[in-house]
Amino acid sequence: MPLLEGSVGVEDLILLEPLVEESLLKNLQLRYENKEIYTYIGNVVISVNPYQQLPIYGPEFIAKYRDYTFYELKPHIYALANVAYQSLRDRDRDQCILITGESGAGKTEASKLVMSYVAAVCAKGEEVNSVKEQLLQSNPVLEAFGNAKTIRNNNSSRFGKYMDIEFDFKGSPLGGVITNYLLEKSRVVKQLKGERNFHIFYQLLAGADAQLLKALKLEQDTRGYTYLNQEMSRVDGMDDASSFRVVKNAMTVIGFSEEEIRQVLEVTSLVLKLGNVEVASEFQANGISASGIRDGKGIQEIGELVGLNSEELEKALCSRTMETAKEKVVTALNVIQAQYARDALAKNIYSRLFNWIVNRINESIKVGTGEKKKVMGVLDIYGFEILEDNSFEQFVINYCNEKLQQVFIEMTLKEEQEEYKREGIPWTKVDYFDNGIICNLIEHNQRGILAMLDEECLRPGVVSDSTFLAKLNQQFSKHGHYESKVTQNAQHQHDRTMGLSCFRICHYAGKVTYNVTSFIDKNNDLLFRDLSQTMWKARHPLLRSLFPEGDPKQASLKRPPTAGAQFKSSVAILMKNLYSKNPNYIRCIKPNEHQQRGQFSSDLVATQARYLGLLENVRVRRAGYAHRQAYKPFLERYRLLSRSTWPHWNGGDREGVEKILGDLSLSSEELAFGKTKIFIRSPKTLFYLEEQRRLRLQQLATLIQKTYRGWRCRTHYQLMRKSQILISSWFRGNMQKKRYGKMKASALLIQAFVRGWKARKNYRKYFRSGAALTLANFIYKSIAQKFLLGLKNNLPSTNVLDDKWPAAPYKCFRTASEELRQLFYQWKCKKFRDQLSPKQVEILREKLCASELFRGKKASYPQSVPIPFRGDYIGLQGNPKLQKLKGGEEGPVLMAETVKKVNRSNGKTSSRILLLTKGHVILTDTKKSQAKTVIGLDSLAGVSVTSLKDGLFNLHLNETTSVASKGDFLLVSEHVVELLTKMYRAVLDATQRQLPVTVTDKFSVRFKEGSVTVQVIQGQGGDGNSKLSCKKKGSRCLEVTVQ
Ligand SMILES: Nc1ncnc2c1ncn2[C@@H]1O[C@H](COP(=O)(O)OP(=O)(O)OP(=O)(O)O)[C@@H](O)[C@H]1O
Ligand SMILES: [Mg+2]
Repeated sequence: MPLLEGSVGVEDLILLEPLVEESLLKNLQLRYENKEIYTYIGNVVISVNPYQQLPIYGPEFIAKYRDYTFYELKPHIYALANVAYQSLRDRDRDQCILITGESGAGKTEASKLVMSYVAAVCAKGEEVNSVKEQLLQSNPVLEAFGNAKTIRNNNSSRFGKYMDIEFDFKGSPLGGVITNYLLEKSRVVKQLKGERNFHIFYQLLAGADAQLLKALKLEQDTRGYTYLNQEMSRVDGMDDASSFRVVKNAMTVIGFSEEEIRQVLEVTSLVLKLGNVEVASEFQANGISASGIRDGKGIQEIGELVGLNSEELEKALCSRTMETAKEKVVTALNVIQAQYARDALAKNIYSRLFNWIVNRINESIKVGTGEKKKVMGVLDIYGFEILEDNSFEQFVINYCNEKLQQVFIEMTLKEEQEEYKREGIPWTKVDYFDNGIICNLIEHNQRGILAMLDEECLRPGVVSDSTFLAKLNQQFSKHGHYESKVTQNAQHQHDRTMGLSCFRICHYAGKVTYNVTSFIDKNNDLLFRDLSQTMWKARHPLLRSLFPEGDPKQASLKRPPTAGAQFKSSVAILMKNLYSKNPNYIRCIKPNEHQQRGQFSSDLVATQARYLGLLENVRVRRAGYAHRQAYKPFLERYRLLSRSTWPHWNGGDREGVEKILGDLSLSSEELAFGKTKIFIRSPKTLFYLEEQRRLRLQQLATLIQKTYRGWRCRTHYQLMRKSQILISSWFRGNMQKKRYGKMKASALLIQAFVRGWKARKNYRKYFRSGAALTLANFIYKSIAQKFLLGLKNNLPSTNVLDDKWPAAPYKCFRTASEELRQLFYQWKCKKFRDQLSPKQVEILREKLCASELFRGKKASYPQSVPIPFRGDYIGLQGNPKLQKLKGGEEGPVLMAETVKKVNRSNGKTSSRILLLTKGHVILTDTKKSQAKTVIGLDSLAGVSVTSLKDGLFNLHLNETTSVASKGDFLLVSEHVVELLTKMYRAVLDATQRQLPVTVTDKFSVRFKEGSVTVQVIQGQGGDGNSKLSCKKKGSRCLEVTVQ
């Protein structure tokens, strides 16, 4: 099967190839399996019940379909509703939407979708919203009273419904009118296995609170009611209690008063309670069987509920009054008849209640008479029915469908023809099956089946269903669409499926065999007058109003119209209504018998497709041209197929289309150019166009891709190139800048040097070379000057003993400072020396000599330093006697003193006077005036002296001299330092020889007898005046202890 681009199967069956049932089914199945439940046949929508909530409804989808034209989006009920609504609003054409299909095919759901779409897209406003709300809320109320669970549909509408929604010129809803058809009232008293009574009974029992139940004299358990199917009280997925609240709320929204709601519920409960009225057989005295009510309580309660006399009610249920012009005859009814009467009453009450509710709703939603209205009718009516046992109901239903098919064919053809005419295309006659003959068979005023049924019902004499059948056989023995056992026999046909009490009609959708049993009864639809009169007598206003014929004043002997006649006339009104409007079709299909999602039973769908005349539908649509489209969208879609129209076309739409189709060299028979539309005869041509478009699209896509890729690469390359140039220019610029900066800096440096050099050269003459050195020298000098001047002004004292000297202020002056200090010191000393007298000089020289000899060596030296050397300690100057001791020697006595001479033999001492002259040392006994010993200074070999404080000393004599024979002199002097100093100087002066002065504590003394070693020892606790004690230790040692 060729597919149109982007669609699953074909979205429009007009394009189906080949046009046979099989491909039609396959297409529907393919789409159904892909959750595409809607398919078009032109502007007809086929809807296959998905039995699941699909995500294709709601505000966003409504918004989408509102903005697009019919064929632009996927097939949808919204698209159809949109076309209808827009045509109504913009073209002022009344619309009708015909929804047909089997029970459970989704008609009611479809009608709700249409209503909700229209409600969503039409204008908004407080008043409008309340009208919309009322219209929408009529659904739950009608569904509660008119729908029931059947084996085919859990929410099956048991009545036909046509609803006119009326709009003002702006397209805002004003209100509406609902017409209902043929409520299945037999359901009130009896239901098939697995089915339920009308929803309202269950909703009432489940949803009413205890108080309400009590007021209605009901009990909650459904099993307590004979009219409610015992084994089926609940339906899966249905919440009766909450539905009850919804219904009550909906009634309030529509405008039912509290009182009205109560009354409706009372009548409903009356029906339920009637079912529980049990009739029992009784026997009259004359032996004729009669009947009576078995349990008086039930009938009593009914009486209380609706204000009836229970006895009267019992009488009305169990007897019948026959009234002729002259007399009234009351006959008792047997049990069967009484039960029939009871059930007939229940059915009548309920169906009248239903009609009353519809009228009450109409009252609320009706539009004022003066206003100019546009109308959109929505017909949700039972589809073609073929049951196992088809009765009067199926007969009228199928009649209705036959009529609808007629409308459909006529209107479609008419529409087709009108379109051809509008577009200026010659109309070619279309061959199609005209079901007028079947409609005629049923509805002909004199010779139609319905007319004959009425005639039979009215005819005096014995009337039965079989007499009726016999008449039919007689009448239609030659009719091509009528069959029965009799006609078959006449034609020697053997058909076991045909019963004796049956007749068969060849409907457009197939043959249906009807059983005539109870045709007469059902057509009569009579309620005994006693019952209607009793009902009229009730004090209950609603119940009373339901039976106006019970009013004796209005009682007429004229029979009410039969059910068939009523139905026929309402169908006629409906047809008239539909013919006056622009039709839109929704054909609903049930995909399986099990209310299961995803299951597609081809056989079942095939049957429905046949009933619905889908193929017929396609054929009619394709009779002339299969496809048509306005020039503009056609040009838009296919202009890419011709070089003249692609990519730009500046001419008119029609010329453009002609160009495209001319370029494709399509046969002229295939095409017809209308005024605004192009017509294409066969789907093949359209598929060819589509295929060409697909190929061309691929080419164009490749071209776009190619161009795009090229463009992308080019721009990328250009961008890269530009970037590269930019980068390199920046880089080069930067490099040059850096180089230039370097060059500039170098040039500046060189310049600076050259300028400096030049300047220096020019200015050199203005500077003395070596100025720095000069400056440095100057600074140095000035520092030195400052230092020296400072020194001069702050010279330390000239006291030789004061050795203070200011520190050098700079390191560099340290050496100079030291030298200056020494100079200063020497200068000070010189100054000191210069002021000394020769005598003082001599004294100091002596002191100096003593220092050189003994300082640091002899312990008594320090004591000797401050004491001036007197030289004469014996008073020599004034003592001539002592002067003589000196002999004749010239010169002064340098030293005169009393010394002690140590004896070698015992170590004892003896005093002697010692004189020192310039040439001699003279020793004299103190008592004698003659010199005892004179020692020439040249004979002195040396002197030994101790280091201690004592005055012991030894004069070593040269052995070669004559004096030496006496041996050395071991003497003790109190002024040993002075003596020996003077002696040393005298020796030096006299002999120019330095007398060796040895400071030692152990020395040897040469005596005449031999040498003795003198050992000097420091005794204990010596004070300043040392005392000697000499002790001889052996012959050669003398130990001297110094205290
Ligand atoms: N478009 C839909 N989307 C989802 N479920 C649907 C749709 N249409 C129908 N159904 C399901 O199918 C059930 C039967 O649909 P509906 O009552 O509309 O059938 P009907 O044709 O009115 O039958 P009847 O003639 O018995 O009244 C609905 O209760 C719902 O569950
Ligand atoms: Mg329905």
